[in-house]
Amino acid sequence: MNNNYVSYFRPDIEAMSGYAPGEQPKAGKVIKLNTNESPFPPSPMVRKALDEFNTDLLRLYPNPVSADFRAEVSAMYGYTADNIITGNGSDDLLTILTRCFSDASHPVACFDPSYSLYPTLAELQGAECIKIPLTEDFDIPENVLEQAERANLFFIACPNAPTGNRFAREKLEKICANFKGIVVLDEAYADFAEQNCIDMVRKYANTVVTRTFSKSRSLAGLRFSYAVAHPKLIEGMMKMKDSYNVSMLAQKLALASLRDMEYFNDSVEKIKQNRKLLAEKLAELGFTVLPSETNFLFVIPPVNAADYFNALKKRNIFIRYFAMERTCRYVRITVGTQEEIEALLQATVEILKELSVS
Ligand SMILES: Cc1ncc(COP(=O)(O)O)c(C=O)c1O
Repeated sequence: MNNNYVSYFRPDIEAMSGYAPGEQPKAGKVIKLNTNESPFPPSPMVRKALDEFNTDLLRLYPNPVSADFRAEVSAMYGYTADNIITGNGSDDLLTILTRCFSDASHPVACFDPSYSLYPTLAELQGAECIKIPLTEDFDIPENVLEQAERANLFFIACPNAPTGNRFAREKLEKICANFKGIVVLDEAYADFAEQNCIDMVRKYANTVVTRTFSKSRSLAGLRFSYAVAHPKLIEGMMKMKDSYNVSMLAQKLALASLRDMEYFNDSVEKIKQNRKLLAEKLAELGFTVLPSETNFLFVIPPVNAADYFNALKKRNIFIRYFAMERTCRYVRITVGTQEEIEALLQATVEILKELSVS
């Protein structure tokens, strides 16, 4: 390779480290509880749609706006197709939003700790990111509106990641009603929660709700998501997206999944049951378990969190550790199948013995 390479990048891009996604270990004998995927396969209707798919059609471009999916999903919530945009995963929609509503003079706001992609997106856009610390128990601070005032775009994950808690609707509504810019309610985990805010779009023209098929629909590998918002916001976001940001196959398979409500409800119910089981068992082992309305738990182990994370990794069990100040005492564990939970617990018992002896 030529050794005379000099950077051609914008200096801010050259200097940044970029988003670090959770590890994707090679398939094999690993237990993967690190990126909040579903442990269950997608609906059998997805398999059927795939089997019936005519690959000759792949020579054509897909419908640019996912017309069939938008018609069906909007009807489910009493919206119309012009309230919906689809994306290549939520990250695509979050990118589109950042590009639409932020730049060097229009800052982004988000909570800390929250989904770590938000500050990275702001950085990529050359926008300031105002990080608003959550309270001691990871709730919204009283003076949130004051702190976010200069921002034009406010990303709020609800339920929050990596903490797993859901913010009260009244607090979110107060933000939607009073914040002067765009509020994005990132509802990646809302299907596992007791309440959601998808109805707020009807009331507030500045509010965007994003949903993904990566978690509750077991389709992280497909990359499919949608956002609900005022038709004027959707119209503007359409200008910013790649012309064909969602593949033909993704549109077809997402629709097949959407229609199978029975399988979806069943999967979500199983995750909630497993979440309860995992929370109880970890608490018995001396972990502090935060309340979760997601498909993961944010917990403080009774031993050093980084050591626990590494000891599990040695046993091919992958969870997530965030080394930042607010999160370094915790680990995040995705809720798996009962077998995966049992394996995790068994390994945990061994590790706790090892680490408390040494
Ligand atoms: C809060 C939050 N939003 C969005 C995403 C990304 O979802 P997608 O797979 O749809 O891009 C994640 C993934 O972990 C997440 O935790």
